[in-house]
Amino acid sequence: MITTSGLTKVYESRGRQVTALDGVDLHVREGEVFGVIGQSGAGKSSLIRCVNLLERPTSGTVTVDGVDLTALAGKSRRAGKDLRRARSSIGMVFQHFNLLSSRTVKDNIELPLEILGISGAERSRRALELLDLVGLADKAKAYPGQLSGGQKQRVGIARALAGKPKVLLSDEATSALDPETTRSILQLLRDLNQQLGLTVLLITHEMDVVKTICDSAALMQHGRVVESGTVAELLATPGSQLAAELFPVSGAATGPDRTVVDVTFHGESATQPVISQLSRTYNIDISILGAAMDTVGGRQIGRMRIELPGRYEDNVVPVGFLREQGLQVEVVEEDAAAPAATAPALVKEGAK
Ligand SMILES: Nc1ncnc2c1ncn2[C@@H]1O[C@H](COP(=O)(O)OP(=O)(O)OP(=O)(O)O)[C@@H](O)[C@H]1O
Ligand SMILES: [Mg+2]
Repeated sequence: MITTSGLTKVYESRGRQVTALDGVDLHVREGEVFGVIGQSGAGKSSLIRCVNLLERPTSGTVTVDGVDLTALAGKSRRAGKDLRRARSSIGMVFQHFNLLSSRTVKDNIELPLEILGISGAERSRRALELLDLVGLADKAKAYPGQLSGGQKQRVGIARALAGKPKVLLSDEATSALDPETTRSILQLLRDLNQQLGLTVLLITHEMDVVKTICDSAALMQHGRVVESGTVAELLATPGSQLAAELFPVSGAATGPDRTVVDVTFHGESATQPVISQLSRTYNIDISILGAAMDTVGGRQIGRMRIELPGRYEDNVVPVGFLREQGLQVEVVEEDAAAPAATAPALVKEGAK
């Protein structure tokens, strides 16, 4: 649904050049919720602004629903009209809502429809329908100043959906909200994704957001995408930073002469039966030191840190057995198993 290829963005700022995007290739499939995460300054907002051509890319292409937006930008008047039409199929939600305070909630939602030249009666019908969809049917006549942050964001989402977009872009839509309101907004985005088949590209600096609703994720650093894929694919990638943050496991060996391994499972293989089978087959006691699991798309997925008696040399056969069962097994070095040495945080809490 969304493809960027070789996307770069260089800003000119007081005679200096800032490379915000440095060759970004991104693929967002139709109907998925795709999260882009990264530290402040990584280029996340630049990316989302280039995807709907709010910002003109320096080079590279952006294709949304089969239309090459970059080819339309800034060409003939005809192409300009095509670009506007293409952009109306992309909704955008902002961190600070960007509502007009002098207009009622309903009139805020009608604004994009006015711009599209839709008649008054039709606008009104559509706005009320959208208000109902976001759970604010009783707030049509209220002004933004009379709403809570979560309610304002619901209005922002309703407005973004006014043009019946296939794609919704969201730049830190929940970072101005408290945790409980964040959850309800994320749930709303998930519901809209499922009810309307809406493709959602969202940007966040909070791993929890990715964990709660994303099917796929990408990690950005210094204007580049350094990892991307479905949650299952990331988990299957040895050494993936995103997987380590999504499914953190820790726990140190309980004594000398022990082997600590991280077992990653995704898709068909269920770990618990395999581990009890391992224990029975080789007659060894296995301790579970830590586990991080979740159900993604109806499948159990996650990571478990287990301890086997004996040194690694004594455990080559049991470890081989786990691998034969389709599990990914990484032996944790003694140092790395120490409690202090969990994966470094990708994104600082409250970085904003
Ligand atoms: N309009 C602009 N002019 C000049 N430089 C800019 C402009 N917008 C962004 N930048 C620079 O581009 C880089 C990427 O910024 P961007 O806003 O895309 O990051 P971000 O990942 O969204 O960060 P944050 O998490 O803080 O929102 C930064 O170095 C920033 O200073
Ligand atoms: Mg940003």
